[in-house]
Amino acid sequence: MRNPSFSAPIVAPVANSYPGLLRDVLSGMGSLHKAIPPRWFYDQKGSKLFEDITRLPQYYPTRCERTILSTYIREIALLLGHNRVLVEFGAGSATKTSVLLGHVLFSEYIAIDISGEFLRESIASLQAQFPHIPMRPVEADFLRPMELPHTVLQRGGVGFFPGSTLGNLSEAAAVNLLRTFGDALGPDSTLLLGIDLLKDEAILLPAYDDPQGVTARFNLNLLHRINRELVGDIPVSAFKHEVRWNEGLSRIEMHLRARYDVQFRVADCSFSMREGETIHTENSYKYTVRDVRLLLRAGGWNTTGFWTDPDGYFAVLSAQRVPIGSDQEYSAD
Ligand code: TRP
Repeated sequence: MRNPSFSAPIVAPVANSYPGLLRDVLSGMGSLHKAIPPRWFYDQKGSKLFEDITRLPQYYPTRCERTILSTYIREIALLLGHNRVLVEFGAGSATKTSVLLGHVLFSEYIAIDISGEFLRESIASLQAQFPHIPMRPVEADFLRPMELPHTVLQRGGVGFFPGSTLGNLSEAAAVNLLRTFGDALGPDSTLLLGIDLLKDEAILLPAYDDPQGVTARFNLNLLHRINRELVGDIPVSAFKHEVRWNEGLSRIEMHLRARYDVQFRVADCSFSMREGETIHTENSYKYTVRDVRLLLRAGGWNTTGFWTDPDGYFAVLSAQRVPIGSDQEYSAD
C-alpha cells in the first residue's frame, strides 16, 4: 500500500553502486593497514548470511534484543507516543520492527538499508502483516546525510537503530552519525537504540566466530563480491576469517588473514599480501550503559530510558533530541 500524501522525494544517494565499492576497495587495500568498510558486506548473499548469523546459538545479540523489546514494549510504547513516523536505519530483514508495529501506531514506516533488493523483500512481507501502515523501503547508505520526507518533521520522527550497528563505528563516527540522525529526524524526535554491552571475552568471541563457520562465510563473501563486481582474481581460499578481542579499544575485530603470501588483481590494480597480513573488515565496539549514555549525549540526545535482558548482555535505550540551544556545554564560555 502506498501513502498518497507521500510525495516528497527522499534525497538519499544510492550507495551500493560500483564506483563506491571501487573507491573503498582501492583506497582500503592501498593503505598500510588494509581495511574495507563493512557496508560492502551486504550484497544479496551477504544480507542472507547475516540473517543466518542472527539465528546462531552463539550470536546472542539478536535474541537478547528481541527479548528486551517484547518484555518492555508497553513501557517503550509510552515513550514513543502514537502517530509519528518510524524510520529504521539499516533495516535489513526488519524482523524486530514487527514488535514495534504491533504495539505502537505509526503514521508510516520508512526503512533504510543499503541492500535494496533484500530490503524490498523484507518490507513486502512486513507490509502483508501490517497492511494499514504505509511502508517505504529506501535503498541508501544511512551513514551519508539524508533528507527524509517532510512528514517526519511535521509528526516527529522515531528513529529505530537496532542490532548494535552503532557499535560498528568508531566513537567519533558514532557521535557524527547520531547528529546526522538528529538532523534528519528533526527537533522533536525520539531514538530507540539497541547496543551490545561489554562482557566476558569467552562469550563475545564465539558470537563472531561460530564453529559452524557461518560468520567465516559472511566475512569471506566480501572477497567473492569484489571478484565478481570489480573483476578481481583474489584467491579466496588463501584467506582465513579471524576474530580478535581488542581489550584496549573494547572492540571485537574481524579480519581476513592471508594464509600465505598472495598476489592478486582488482580492477586492473595489483596487490600483494604477506603471509599473516590481514584485511580489517569490521569492528564491533562493546559499551557499558554509561558509555552509551555519554555517546548519545555527545551526539545530541538525552537518554530517557534503558532496558537490558536478564543476563545484562544487551541494552535498548530511548533518547530524546537535545533541544537546540540547550547544549550549554558546547557554548564558547
Ligand atoms: N552489528 C552487528 C554486531 O556488531 C554486526 C555483525 C554481527 C557482524 N556479526 C557480524 C558484522 C559478523 C560482520 C560480521 O554484532
